[in-house]
Amino acid sequence: MRILVTGATGMLGRAVVSDLLANGHTVAAMSRRVRRWPGVEPVLADLTEGTGLEAAVEGAQAIVHLASAPYQRGYTDEVEVLGTQKLLTAAEAAGVKHVVYTSIVGADLVPWGYFGTKVRAETIVRASPVPWSILRSTQFHDFVDQAVTKMSRMPLMVSDRGVVGQPIDVRDVAERVTHRLVEGPSTEIEECGGPEILGFDQVLRQWQEVRGVHKPILHLRIPGKLGKGFRNGGATTNERTGGITWKQYLREKYRHATGRTTDES
Ligand SMILES: NC(=O)c1ccc[n+]([C@@H]2O[C@H](COP(=O)([O-])OP(=O)(O)OC[C@H]3O[C@@H](n4cnc5c(N)ncnc54)[C@H](OP(=O)(O)O)[C@@H]3O)[C@@H](O)[C@H]2O)c1
Repeated sequence: MRILVTGATGMLGRAVVSDLLANGHTVAAMSRRVRRWPGVEPVLADLTEGTGLEAAVEGAQAIVHLASAPYQRGYTDEVEVLGTQKLLTAAEAAGVKHVVYTSIVGADLVPWGYFGTKVRAETIVRASPVPWSILRSTQFHDFVDQAVTKMSRMPLMVSDRGVVGQPIDVRDVAERVTHRLVEGPSTEIEECGGPEILGFDQVLRQWQEVRGVHKPILHLRIPGKLGKGFRNGGATTNERTGGITWKQYLREKYRHATGRTTDES
């Protein structure tokens, strides 16, 4: 099966491409820049400008739509909402048989701007004549690690004790995506989450332990409905898909580097 992966160069995209190749699929990997990628057909296209889209979808039996531009104000909307619409219009014209769109657990429960764009894009996917699946995931380990690493450059770390999350490894999400492609369109919203529900304090303490960093944690309460949404477990799910825990991920990633707090480690 020739599968087009949008957002192929992203955190999840790289894991999805590896998993698809390992399962014998032919992968066309979309990016806005020319990339060399062994075993993969590179596809140059831009979802906001619409350039290259027609050629990108041509001959694809399925699309894994992962492209996104989180927390970039108007551009986020352009990629997520208008870009998804453009992709689906092109997919319909090319007779694509299945689109898998990834969204976020709690997108409709936690009132955060980026989450709102995901819900709007989900609505477009659900209304499309192209057969679809929507997989909502909890936060990726890589994403949480990036955020905590940035925070660690400050003299203090900041946490709302009541906030809970369920970080998941992109390799576990990628397996779910491949499984969904093989099974065919679900025409429903499915969820996947990491193996453990962790308080944000635990996330920070495990990170500090593995990195060999000791920083005081300042406790603050995220105000309003946003804080309530996260404290009520809005970003968690009963679906424990992933097997790789936050600590296992950190130990694997940082096994040769303790006590360093930069992205180079
Ligand atoms: N990060 C998380 O914790 C998390 C949790 C749950 C769900 N998700 C969802 O999972 C999906 C993948 O997330 P991610 O964190 O792996 O993404 P990411 O690392 O931020 O990568 C985003 C990708 O989007 C592509 N892109 C951005 N603008 C584009 C445009 N105008 N046209 C074409 N491609 C464009 C980029 O490709 P180039 O730069 O190569 O063009 C890049 O590969 C998203 O739908 C996200 O909402 C993420």
